[in-house]
Amino acid sequence: MTAEQVRITVFDTTLRDGEQSPGCSMNHQEKLRLAHQLDRLGADVIEAGFPIASDGDFEAVKAIAGVIRRPVIAGLARACRPDIERAWEALKDAARPRIHVFLATSDIHLQYKLRITRDQCLAQARDAVRFAKSLCDDVEFSPEDATRTDCDFLCKVLEAVVEAGATTLNIPDTVGFTIPSEFGELISTIRRRVKGIENVTISAHCHNDLGMAVANTMAAIAAGARQVECTINGIGERAGNAALEEIVMAMRVRRDRYPYETGIVGEQLFCASQMLSEITGVPVQPNKAVTGRNAFAHEAGIHQDGVLKNPLTYEIMTPQSVGVPDSKLVLGKHSGRHALNIRCEQLGYQFDRRALDDIYRRFVRLADKIKHVEDHHLLELIRETHKPAASATPLFESMPTAVAAAASVSAQESQRFPLVPQPNAFGLPLPVPTDQHHDQEDYLWGV
Ligand code: KIV
Ligand code: ZN
Repeated sequence: MTAEQVRITVFDTTLRDGEQSPGCSMNHQEKLRLAHQLDRLGADVIEAGFPIASDGDFEAVKAIAGVIRRPVIAGLARACRPDIERAWEALKDAARPRIHVFLATSDIHLQYKLRITRDQCLAQARDAVRFAKSLCDDVEFSPEDATRTDCDFLCKVLEAVVEAGATTLNIPDTVGFTIPSEFGELISTIRRRVKGIENVTISAHCHNDLGMAVANTMAAIAAGARQVECTINGIGERAGNAALEEIVMAMRVRRDRYPYETGIVGEQLFCASQMLSEITGVPVQPNKAVTGRNAFAHEAGIHQDGVLKNPLTYEIMTPQSVGVPDSKLVLGKHSGRHALNIRCEQLGYQFDRRALDDIYRRFVRLADKIKHVEDHHLLELIRETHKPAASATPLFESMPTAVAAAASVSAQESQRFPLVPQPNAFGLPLPVPTDQHHDQEDYLWGV
């Protein structure tokens, strides 16, 4: 198999680890709705919940297992019989069920949380995986807090669970403690030292406490991990999990360094992000990579000018490739004439150079006072600056009175100053069909 054909399994845990983050709990219907979106997105594995945790979680996992048939549906269980039985009860009708067993292996967890010895831990892990395997062919094992576990002991536990029938070994950086070079080395060591490792999939599960979850995941892939565990918008315990959309787009944009394939449909990323935010009521941070509202917005004049000439100047991926319909030029104090001119055109006005200069001066003064100049501000400014002036050439016919009223412009004014077209779903006016020619000099102002 060539490097081009290596496929990374995307394991989405938004409904389990993600749901554990404060303010992100979802009810049964909401989980089902999101599970359908994760299916459309192309996730290979959906971890639907932790069935022993509550009756609600059990029912949600069961319902998802019953209706979502393409991806593997996983349910989490501690390394003990009641958990594993409950998980299997919820999963057994799935087309492709997986039991995900976990047990902490670091001395800190063994001593203070579980109060068991390393030998007891080893035996418990082996027995739990053997029992899970007696119910389900597909068994994943996670040594919780792997990155703070003694490496020799970690390899010993992993070898034991492979022998007991585990098909995926997930290596969690439970507390977001590791760094990329170290995590890559850990994956390499596991590949070198664990007997039988060639027959199982190695997985990475990274938390973001130091802001390195995605970087650590990428290092794990480079070192041989072939499954990544992640969540939409990076939600999850504390600082969250590795963000699915960032991992996938890193592989797509930097294919030269990460020549791997996933089954993710990029065009569904934005929709998944928005749906999760809408369901949980937790907004996506504006500067969130890939799916934040500013991810494709450009305010600085030099940037706006570049993007208008060729988006490649400041965009490393197209908004469309992640499902965002268009990039958005934010008009603020750093904006240049080029962007202002385009927005005026979008609003239905064409100005000659002198008129645009005039508007631009007023625009800069306004932008200094208010952060973002919205379309209605701009319309007002245009009206004030150019009370029916010969230099302003409207591009549109007058809109109906109701629309004029909605834009709080009098009927009389609307005759003289034609109003804007209806905005699209993202608040941007529809593109202006124009065959007006701009000479090179006009565009030089933008910088
Ligand atoms: O972070 C973690 O260790 C986990 C395990 C249950 C896989 O979420
Ligand atoms: Zn986790």
